[in-house]
Amino acid sequence: MSFTTDESLVPAGLRTAYCGALRTGDTGRTVSVCGWVARRREHGEHLAFVDLRDHTGIIQCVVDGARDLRSEQVLRVTGTVRPRPEGTANPALSTGEVELGECEVEVLSTAEPPPFSLDARSETDEAVRLRYRYLDLRTDRMQHNLRLRAQVNSALRRAMERQGFVEVETPMLWTPTPEGAREFAIPSRLQHGSFYVLPQSPQIAKQLLMVGGLDRYYQIARCMRDEDLRADRQFEFTQLDIEASFVGQAEVLGFVSEAVSEAAFAVTGEQQPEIVTMTWNQALDRFGTDKPDLRFGMELVDLGDAVAGSELNVFKAACVRAVRVPSAGEWPRSRLDALVERALELGAAGLVWMRVRAERVLESPVAKFLSEAHQRQIVAATYADPGDLVLVVAGERERTCKVLGQLRLDLGQPAVSERPLCFAWITEFPLFEGMDDDGHLVAAHHPFTMPHPDDLDLLETDPMAVRSQSYDLVLNGWELGSGSIRIHRADIQRRVFKALGVSDEDAESRFGFLLGAFRYGAPPHGGFAVGLDRFVALLAGEDNIREVIAYPKTQSGADLMSGAPRPLADRQLAELGIRVVPTGAPGRPGSTGSPRSLGSPGAAGSPGAPGPSGA
Ligand code: AMO
Repeated sequence: MSFTTDESLVPAGLRTAYCGALRTGDTGRTVSVCGWVARRREHGEHLAFVDLRDHTGIIQCVVDGARDLRSEQVLRVTGTVRPRPEGTANPALSTGEVELGECEVEVLSTAEPPPFSLDARSETDEAVRLRYRYLDLRTDRMQHNLRLRAQVNSALRRAMERQGFVEVETPMLWTPTPEGAREFAIPSRLQHGSFYVLPQSPQIAKQLLMVGGLDRYYQIARCMRDEDLRADRQFEFTQLDIEASFVGQAEVLGFVSEAVSEAAFAVTGEQQPEIVTMTWNQALDRFGTDKPDLRFGMELVDLGDAVAGSELNVFKAACVRAVRVPSAGEWPRSRLDALVERALELGAAGLVWMRVRAERVLESPVAKFLSEAHQRQIVAATYADPGDLVLVVAGERERTCKVLGQLRLDLGQPAVSERPLCFAWITEFPLFEGMDDDGHLVAAHHPFTMPHPDDLDLLETDPMAVRSQSYDLVLNGWELGSGSIRIHRADIQRRVFKALGVSDEDAESRFGFLLGAFRYGAPPHGGFAVGLDRFVALLAGEDNIREVIAYPKTQSGADLMSGAPRPLADRQLAELGIRVVPTGAPGRPGSTGSPRSLGSPGAAGSPGAPGPSGA
């Protein structure tokens, strides 16, 4: 186990030392340690080695008459620290040079055999881990991850407070807000038929704090969104949420950069270099995505000039881009065919592969249609070496870049746990990201995002070209957070609502309280939210945020340990004025599945009963 206790922390209560803190310097001390039996090994007829584990590590105790001791029993062991006999030190343990001898053992709690091994080396099905999460929390991995999370939290708080931010708690029982995600509704007992919603973020509440003169707000905020769960998404998650008045984008980026750099330093001990910034357009051109992973190269290359004048029809498209795959020139034809398939699946019209040969000539299905000069230009533009592979896609710009961006990730992205940490700021996102079914524009961030000042005139004439003052923070290819400068002027807000198809009445009924507040003097303001679960997962080298959350939900939304969600008793439903419509009944179009109408498929019947392994 890799945790050491802060040396200045004095153990108290039943113990006088922590298991993982004992060293040869403690030789001769009589100490009491408390913890769980990690392992017991017989040593001769009477003696046994008992490895006792607490959150700091493991100490070997030599116990006389340990027959009744079982794994995961809770003990208090009092003994004398002594060096292990010559040749028996265990370099894998921080306490491996010592042991506790002449031990007296007090059993504080008995334990049934655990349903799975807590040993770091054993692989356990995740559904079993989640069902018995309280046992899983005892493992090195979970101890490490949750403590790392606490370190990150406290570093973020330090950094925000140093920068003059005050922590304000915003309500959990809130009202629907237009941020895009489906919300969890909470029925009101006092007003039947009315509902609170759980906040998908403190967005409006924090903007109102700015109207309220708080100036610089932050919160380690719990957010709830009823959306499909994935490796980087849970129903409940946490944000470092901030908002500041009388600042522009540069200042917001500065506040957040300082906070995340401090947290990364607290965990890694390494100073972060200054965070690079690129616009959304640059990110798309260079990496084919708005969340570029900068840990590796393979940047997209514009072949427009290199293939200009070529006879090949496909290369006459608006955008011709390539990615170089180092040392892949010998890949067999079957693998190249699979790449073509993948590109088609991603929406490309096709993919041209080119093997770069020793004499710098291309071997490709299209080689015979390319002049030698064009071939040389392609090689030069991509900086390809003999033995490399060049993949080319042609077509409409955004699609072409995105297909190549995904191929770049498929072929080159390092594992989540691989360092370094590469943060990037992506700025100038488009204000709108397309149309909904009713032909209305859809806000790329949220409807309170300020358009770029140079593009205000385009709001009515060419809205899709309007850039916004919104920005994302990306870490190793994950979207870590996003934010924007907000609209604080009623005239601009009206124009954006109009573009979004939100009528005056609609705006008034949905968030009239925000617009109303803005009539009483709103300072220019902007803010940001960092997804803490994602940040901690990346710092811990975990590819699923469940691993850094104490009690996460499975992919089907179940808490396998508590059995949530569950049906409510009839009495409780009546009190809330709710009648449950069984799944599949009229009024629930398209419903199928179990009749557990309040529950998800993961709901379990008896307390703690295991649900399906949807983890
Ligand atoms: P946004 O919706 O982009 O912005 O959320 C900010 C960050 O929160 C994290 N996140 C999630 N993490 C885990 N599970 C989820 N379901 C989930 N959803 C979001 C992501 C994301 O980047 N109010 C704005 C911020 C602002 O403008 O100030 C907001 O919430 O890391």
